[in-house]
Amino acid sequence: MIKLQDVRKHYRAAAKGELALRGVDLEIEEGEMVAIVGTSGSGKTTLLNIIGGLDRDFTGRVSVGDADLQTLSDAQLAQLRNQKIGFIFQHFSLLDHLTAVENVALPASFLKGASPVGDPRQRARETLTMLGLGDKLDARPNRLSGGQKQRVAIARALLFKPQLLLCDEPTGSLDSVTGEQIIKTFQDLNEEGYTVIIITHEDRVSDAAKRVIRIEDGRITDDGRARP
Ligand SMILES: Nc1ncnc2c1ncn2[C@@H]1O[C@H](COP(=O)(O)OP(=O)(O)OP(=O)(O)O)[C@@H](O)[C@H]1O
Ligand SMILES: [Mg+2]
Repeated sequence: MIKLQDVRKHYRAAAKGELALRGVDLEIEEGEMVAIVGTSGSGKTTLLNIIGGLDRDFTGRVSVGDADLQTLSDAQLAQLRNQKIGFIFQHFSLLDHLTAVENVALPASFLKGASPVGDPRQRARETLTMLGLGDKLDARPNRLSGGQKQRVAIARALLFKPQLLLCDEPTGSLDSVTGEQIIKTFQDLNEEGYTVIIITHEDRVSDAAKRVIRIEDGRITDDGRARP
């Protein structure tokens, strides 16, 4: 589903020759749950942003599903990001003045054509309820706990039933009990068939993954893939 070949990344602001990714080769199959670990600055977020089509300033080849990311137009890439990939971040990125349902349905307002999932607000209500927030549909983020906010963010990521969930330290702002529940949520989603990639510093998150990829200094140094 995801294939990277010799991916290299140099940030414009970085010194000449200083690469954030130094030749990454990686394949991830549909239905996998993968953790990406490594010290701060090793290149984890850079890698996730490239897989997610947020950063196309790199060399090498990246394909996600049928799409070769370099050959997509900006509009096609935006559509891939919006509809095929769900992003989840450490700090939730919710809008304070919108309710849970409005936050979850928001990506639908960026659609050009008809919604691929029917009424976005209805889908938002169903997804929030599925994630245990049926009594918080009209709550604004300032009335929600950290774990509840993260579940709103997960519901938003699931709006268009994406193929892939990309998570950058999704439990980084949560206490251990709440973090545990969020990990369980990702495991359940993976059981349902979602492909999940999670950047983490926490052992209990990587323990929950079926495969752990370690990055050091812009290179993959370990890939604990369970061979069939
Ligand atoms: N916008 C940027 N401009 C210049 N250099 C950058 C930029 N973003 C990241 N870098 C550099 O690229 C390298 C990899 O950064 P990246 O954010 O991918 O690390 P990370 O593994 O996600 O770290 P952390 O665990 O702290 O989030 C680092 O050396 C960082 O300083
Ligand atoms: Mg990072």
